[in-house]
Amino acid sequence: MLGWLCAAALVCAGDGIVSPALSWQRPQVTLTASATQTPPLPGILSAAMSRAITVPGGYPMSLTAVVGGRPVKASWTYVDGLPGLNSQLDSWLLGILDAAAAPSGARYRPAMALNAGNSQNAALSVSAEPVQASGTVVAVRQKVSETGSDGTRTVSSATIYADTVSGEVHRAAELLRPEAREGILAQATGVPASISGPLAQWPTLDDVVLTSSGDLQVTTERPAGRGQPGTEDTTTIASADTLATLSELGHKILHQLQAPAAPPPATAPALRHINCDLVPCAALSYDDGPDPKTTPRLLAILKEKNVQATFFMTGSNATAAPATARQVAEAGHAVGNHTFSHPYLTKLTPAAIRSEIDRTDAAIRTATGSAPSIMRPPYGAADAAVQSAVGKPLIIWAIDSLDWQSKNPAVFVPKVLKEITPGAVVLMHDIDATTIAGQQELITNLQAQGYRLVTVPQIFDGTPLLSGHVYRSRPERK
Ligand code: NI
Repeated sequence: MLGWLCAAALVCAGDGIVSPALSWQRPQVTLTASATQTPPLPGILSAAMSRAITVPGGYPMSLTAVVGGRPVKASWTYVDGLPGLNSQLDSWLLGILDAAAAPSGARYRPAMALNAGNSQNAALSVSAEPVQASGTVVAVRQKVSETGSDGTRTVSSATIYADTVSGEVHRAAELLRPEAREGILAQATGVPASISGPLAQWPTLDDVVLTSSGDLQVTTERPAGRGQPGTEDTTTIASADTLATLSELGHKILHQLQAPAAPPPATAPALRHINCDLVPCAALSYDDGPDPKTTPRLLAILKEKNVQATFFMTGSNATAAPATARQVAEAGHAVGNHTFSHPYLTKLTPAAIRSEIDRTDAAIRTATGSAPSIMRPPYGAADAAVQSAVGKPLIIWAIDSLDWQSKNPAVFVPKVLKEITPGAVVLMHDIDATTIAGQQELITNLQAQGYRLVTVPQIFDGTPLLSGHVYRSRPERK
């Protein structure tokens, strides 16, 4: 992949290269002392460095897909309260997946991650994990490893920095003065800049972890001719030598790494970021409750299966069973307004529609502490008059389980499994014991296919839900 080094034939010969003494100096940067402390010998330091760490608010994601005929694996970590970081990860991942799909003339679609098996030999492995969390900074290392059809392996990595206060995200290269780049790369690769050829042929300097003590951990791909291709080496440049290499932004971030920790604000589980253009999602929704007998049983199953769902409650049932309504909200599920008395809204006057909505909002607010921002008209019955009167987005469904009609899991579970597609909202009812009886099987099967089960706000994340508009499933990515 990198032909940039072999112009220096002497250096490319053989694996057992002794680290150059680095007696050379670049005009702006002096890198003498640390060269002997941390010779760029392969592999020894890399294992201990840039290791994924746990950060407050971090939650793991993973994906197995077949894209352009090749198995792909991805794993990454979102961080609550850092939308800039999370959306950067999304566009980075989608860019890689789109590029992988391009030879087949397609764009990546989440359906490619359904029933993809669990291939141990992914042709493309992608990861993005936090490697540094200190002060108000979270640094994430993004890595791509690809095995070509001829068996050659290439690897590339980059580090990005997110500020937990401002939310800003920067690439590692922005932390360094442009003129310091050559000197740092020379030290990281062990090849003096004087014999490395034109600057344009240097590898990118994208994977740099700045520690709170000011050290720089620089990761570069092993140069051609120096052992196993497709591996990376990490070199630490001690803080005494790095200060002169940092840009103004680099100094600012070093300062922030040393600041008192400021974890970003937590997000309610029902609203936690997930990108349903990337991951195949489905939103299970349960209407007509809460019911003090059946709803808690459903909550137990959802908890066991680690699923967030959406409950469209009637005001009358939220009034009758406020503790159950509260239990739903406290378990992190989304709650929607399903009117007070479950009428056909199309048969009511605008004032009567408003009353149904307002009384239900009040009942749910009394029980759970907040009023719903979404609603579902009973029977899915809505017309222009209803749409303008309800004052909320109308969430209908893409898949009707007809659970209330069959009252039989052997009927409605296969129906949903047959009709499900990524982005769909599924209608069920948490007041029927037979519905609850089918949930274990339904959820197990959906998850085995690769579906991530999310709330209605999550499945529409990135699509503004507008008052008076009707939604049934997530629109395809533009
Ligand atoms: Ni209903």
